[in-house]
Amino acid sequence: MEPLGYIVHGGDYNPDQWIDTPEIWDEDMRLMKEAGINSATVGIFAWSLIEPEEGVYDFSFLDTILDKMHKNGIKAILATPSGARPPWLSQKYPEVLRVEETGIRNEFGVRHNHCLTSPVYREKVQNINRLLAERYKDHPALMMWHISNEYSGECHCEKCQKAFREWLKKEYHNDLNELNFKWWNGFWSHRVTDWEQISSPKFRGENHVSALKLCWNRFVSDSHISFFENEIKPLREITPDIPITTNMMGTYNGIDYQKLAKKLDIVSYDSYPPFDAEDPLEVAKSWTFIYDIYRSMGGNKPFFLMESSPSLVNWRDVNKLLMPGRHAQSSMLAVSHGADSVQYFQWRKSRGGHEKFHGAVVDHIGTNETRVFREVAKLGEQLKKLGEVTGGKCESRVAVICDWENSWATTHFHGYNNLRRDYFDECQKWHLPFSLRGIPCDVISETDDYSSYDLIIAPFMYMLKTNVEEKIRSFVKNGGSFVATYLFAVADKDDMVYYGGLPANGLKEVFGIWAEESDGIPEGREGTAEYNSKEYKTQHICDVIHSKGAEVLGTYTSDFYAGEPSVTRNSYGKGKAYYAAFRNDEDFADDFCSDLIKELCIKPSTDIIFPRDIIIRKRGELIFILNFTDEEKAVTLDKTYYDILSETDVTGILPIPENGYCILKQKEILK
Ligand code: GAL
Repeated sequence: MEPLGYIVHGGDYNPDQWIDTPEIWDEDMRLMKEAGINSATVGIFAWSLIEPEEGVYDFSFLDTILDKMHKNGIKAILATPSGARPPWLSQKYPEVLRVEETGIRNEFGVRHNHCLTSPVYREKVQNINRLLAERYKDHPALMMWHISNEYSGECHCEKCQKAFREWLKKEYHNDLNELNFKWWNGFWSHRVTDWEQISSPKFRGENHVSALKLCWNRFVSDSHISFFENEIKPLREITPDIPITTNMMGTYNGIDYQKLAKKLDIVSYDSYPPFDAEDPLEVAKSWTFIYDIYRSMGGNKPFFLMESSPSLVNWRDVNKLLMPGRHAQSSMLAVSHGADSVQYFQWRKSRGGHEKFHGAVVDHIGTNETRVFREVAKLGEQLKKLGEVTGGKCESRVAVICDWENSWATTHFHGYNNLRRDYFDECQKWHLPFSLRGIPCDVISETDDYSSYDLIIAPFMYMLKTNVEEKIRSFVKNGGSFVATYLFAVADKDDMVYYGGLPANGLKEVFGIWAEESDGIPEGREGTAEYNSKEYKTQHICDVIHSKGAEVLGTYTSDFYAGEPSVTRNSYGKGKAYYAAFRNDEDFADDFCSDLIKELCIKPSTDIIFPRDIIIRKRGELIFILNFTDEEKAVTLDKTYYDILSETDVTGILPIPENGYCILKQKEILK
């Protein structure tokens, strides 16, 4: 999608809830302008209003709202309504209701609980989407399509079981022998002789075949994606120039987001960092990882911050208000990492219903007199000054591999340590050393392109997918540095362990090691390993490895494998392959990455000197400096900058207020 040249500032707007008091709609328009809102996401949950009975349509409310929005200079992100269907639909076609893993069909209720394969539901969704596209294709307010809402979950109905079997037939070339072999079904006498003998993994059924679970994950994910493709068909046909997005949820892994992202014109993320509940700096650090995932997922392109709460949420056990200023700061963190929008859930608080106490720009009082409204309006003013950043990229020489399919694989296998896998946490830990140093770092999948990086870190990359061995080999051969950690390249895409010693196949040569055994470390019995004369804790899982030519950089100092290598480096072609054989804590990852950063001369994106608890990020020509601590911090500027928000020149030591931020631009590139 082409950059818009301005930051989209908007949010979920559900005027359909105020159908009986349309005077509120006019007030909404007035207040939106006052808050600097330039877009609103409409129609997400409006199906029961626009199709109150099967085949009976009433678009009058949307017509009115879109016209009002256009008149007031507010663009529409128009949603397709499949996230919540009208009651008549489930009543007439019960097959659209989702069946749980227990085999019990849900009743009508809540939202997001449709069957993913139901032909009736797909037809109804496509029909309403087509009508929306035909009706609004030329509407000047229409800016973007928002497909459904937070696709998630799975359905175990008979139709889905049948579709699963068809999916398996395709995957295994209609050959049960191939499936039996790949699933290692000789084990416990599970050889199947008829496709009908296979069904989804269930608590009271088959749940110990990890290949089945992986296939089910892939099938469910593909079902969501094909549901999405069914939804967008009429939109692509009728409105080929209107970009399409769908909103996603952090590291939710019920869908392979890295695969879904490739189908979108722009990636969107609903972001609810728990600033109210946890140490703000720690939250900010972990959110740098999530934002980097979202930026990378779309191919190092901007993403939309599709939802965020301007104050509190209503779904944590206890919902504390965000402190004044935190929402704006949190939004700037997103913008600094690639967000081209700041959007809210929700514009106006519902009067009734499940989310009436969830934060909103407009509270029940209905005016501009609230703290939250004022803060949103102030942020709106600030965002207006940042238009040039849209489309701006972050060029990274470093990437961490965090692969959605590997997150499934590392959950399913049994062995070593069945309690501690924490795949995403592990990836985040290896991203942090770069993030803390202001060094841009992408977060990519195993199969993404490696060619623009100098350093790639692959934490806990247990699953080595087809052709990835060759990618790693040529990356290193051509001069790249690749870091792998414990349980690396153990199994293939069907979770079959590679024969011939680990890591798989030719990777033993690339890394110059052989990983002979792996050890599960119980909590409280952590061991130690030494690296550069410093001792580190070894935890959760360790590999016992042998050097087959690699230089030993560190050794274990506890347990019977004391003295064996724990960290190695192997020169291969023009590059280097590193192996960190133990699960470690942040200390080791930080020290080890610090050495790599020096060795490879990887520089932060600015020459500003800043303390470790400041987050600094350059996007395009703008430098965002964020302080998530309760104390004022100072950074040392390397030259004179222009402070975009205060509109003054700054030089020398620049104080960054507690819980505050500052956005700078180099003087010489001021337009
Ligand atoms: C999101 C959802 C919104 C709203 C919000 C509340 O996950 O998409 O519709 O429910 O949560 O935080």
